[in-house]
Amino acid sequence: MKTTTIQLDTHIFSDPNASPENIKTFYDEATEDYNFWSKDFNMHFGYCTMGQTNPFLRDTMHNEMNRQVLLRLNLTQEKQITADLGCGMGGTMRYLMKHLPNLSTLGVTLSDFQVHEGNKLLKNTNGVIIKENFTNTSILSNTMDGAVAMESFCHTGHSYQTLKEAHRILKKGKRLVITDAFLKKDPSQLCPGSGYGYKGLCKGWSLDGIGVIDQVQKDLHAIGFSKVTIEDVSLHVAPSVLHVPFAIPLFIIKQFLKGRKIKKQSWNNLKASFYSLLCGLHMNDFGYYIITAEK
Ligand SMILES: C[S@@+](CC[C@H](N)C(=O)[O-])C[C@H]1O[C@@H](n2cnc3c(N)ncnc32)[C@H](O)[C@@H]1O
Repeated sequence: MKTTTIQLDTHIFSDPNASPENIKTFYDEATEDYNFWSKDFNMHFGYCTMGQTNPFLRDTMHNEMNRQVLLRLNLTQEKQITADLGCGMGGTMRYLMKHLPNLSTLGVTLSDFQVHEGNKLLKNTNGVIIKENFTNTSILSNTMDGAVAMESFCHTGHSYQTLKEAHRILKKGKRLVITDAFLKKDPSQLCPGSGYGYKGLCKGWSLDGIGVIDQVQKDLHAIGFSKVTIEDVSLHVAPSVLHVPFAIPLFIIKQFLKGRKIKKQSWNNLKASFYSLLCGLHMNDFGYYIITAEK
């Protein structure tokens, strides 16, 4: 019997955080806030190489992460199509199409807000966002020239089914690139500080529990991926994570000063961001990885 990451994780939660309804509510309400995090509406952490990337410019780091993904997708200048599984506002889709003019992109999200507003940002491009669940899409098998999952598969605990669906839609020889935080050990083995941070993070961001990196690697192989590369890029991501204690409270203060009501999901986002910082400090238990896997 296969042990999926989601099974490993659920036993520390009495109450799952990540029903599709919870995820939709979170992103419908909180997506607007991310414009404060990234002017390009990138809803992920950035990638910084000291001496090459300016650690004070968040968007530069976010787009550097997009570039790292683009490099690993191994796409060509020919007409191709990629899927962004958990695409947010399509920040990565727009980045990829800007750098590969013949590329088309298909984004998948659960949030109506992201479908509506993200598609406005994609106007006059070969990109479109649809509302579907990435664990079971209507995308035809063997049709995609690449698939991207940036900080999205965590919502289903990087489950076996989620990875399998990505494998199904890819053409043979094409790649899935995942950028995300992962556990280095089973959640039951986390120290009290990590366990506390992990629970808060999952609750605030509506995550089903993040995958254990070794298990995810095994699952990718079991599904049929080859050339699975696991890169620990935690130190490249750290400068971006360090923006959290400044950027998010500043956003909340600005909302207060403008007399705007702070929405419930904005508070959840704020709290989860701090828990992510706490988890990031426990480098024995958590890591940020770029995974590349070929069908
Ligand atoms: C943190 S955002 C990341 C967005 C985007 N990848 C980026 O980096 O800008 C997570 C995204 O995953 C999507 N998502 C989460 N669970 C999903 C599911 N089961 N099916 C489709 N989309 C999902 C959310 O709607 C959201 O767009």
